[in-house]
Amino acid sequence: MASTTAPEYAVEVNDVSMVFNMASEQLNSLKEYFIKLMRHELFFSEFRALKHISFKVRPGEVVGLVGTNGSGKSTMLKIIAGVLEASEGTCIVRGNIAPLIELGAGFDLELTARENIYLNGALLGYTKDFIDGHLDEIVEFAELRDFMDMPLKNYSSGMVARIAFAIATITEPDILIVDETLSVGDVFFQEKCERRIRHFIESGNVTVLFVSHSLEQVERICQRAVWIERGDLRMDGPVHEVCEAYRNQFA
Ligand SMILES: Nc1ncnc2c1ncn2[C@@H]1O[C@H](COP(=O)(O)OP(=O)(O)O)[C@@H](O)[C@H]1O
Ligand SMILES: [Mg+2]
Repeated sequence: MASTTAPEYAVEVNDVSMVFNMASEQLNSLKEYFIKLMRHELFFSEFRALKHISFKVRPGEVVGLVGTNGSGKSTMLKIIAGVLEASEGTCIVRGNIAPLIELGAGFDLELTARENIYLNGALLGYTKDFIDGHLDEIVEFAELRDFMDMPLKNYSSGMVARIAFAIATITEPDILIVDETLSVGDVFFQEKCERRIRHFIESGNVTVLFVSHSLEQVERICQRAVWIERGDLRMDGPVHEVCEAYRNQFA
């Protein structure tokens, strides 16, 4: 029987672990590195940033990731976005992703804002014609019309975030990943981004994975939260319950 129903899950994280190898001593040059390597004097210590994480997200679900700094939230989002490959486990994603992960990822600081819109757009899979047709809309949303021919290196991080958000959300993605991107802009732009995210959420078609400094924002936007603490999955459930438990940890 042909099936036209939506897939059951948009994102499936199955027993994912992430190990970073870190040189156990500070080396000052590549030469020093190769000499140590040749002499078999180079030792690595393993650091487990994620330990056996599993969770599934249904299409249209809006999930917040919470956890103290360095707990592995960004690492988890990068694995889902395909920027990093998990050391163990699998991650299945169904649909196209608009990743707002790290400021500046997919941008070249030497190029102008206008050139960066085309560069970043191409990385997101947009054609030149498509961007031509949507350039005004992008520039208007980012509110940076007067700065389009300025190299990105002269932009503040808030201005880069505006452009990144404007490009990534110009079409409705299947999966939107937002990693603290909104916290660098000013409060008015944050509100504007939040309205666009809400618009996606209300359409019911967009799956959202959301990380914010602000627990209030997570509670306002998300239905569910996944709490990752020092690489361990602590809790997964309704957003208010998880945020309550997370807050109690500090009480
Ligand atoms: N490329 C990397 N190499 C080594 N360690 C890393 C790398 N990326 C992240 N880490 C470490 O992994 C841990 C989790 O980082 P991260 O995912 O950025 O946490 P969070 O986003 O929750 O603050 C931190 O201890 C961080 O220092
Ligand atoms: Mg992070």
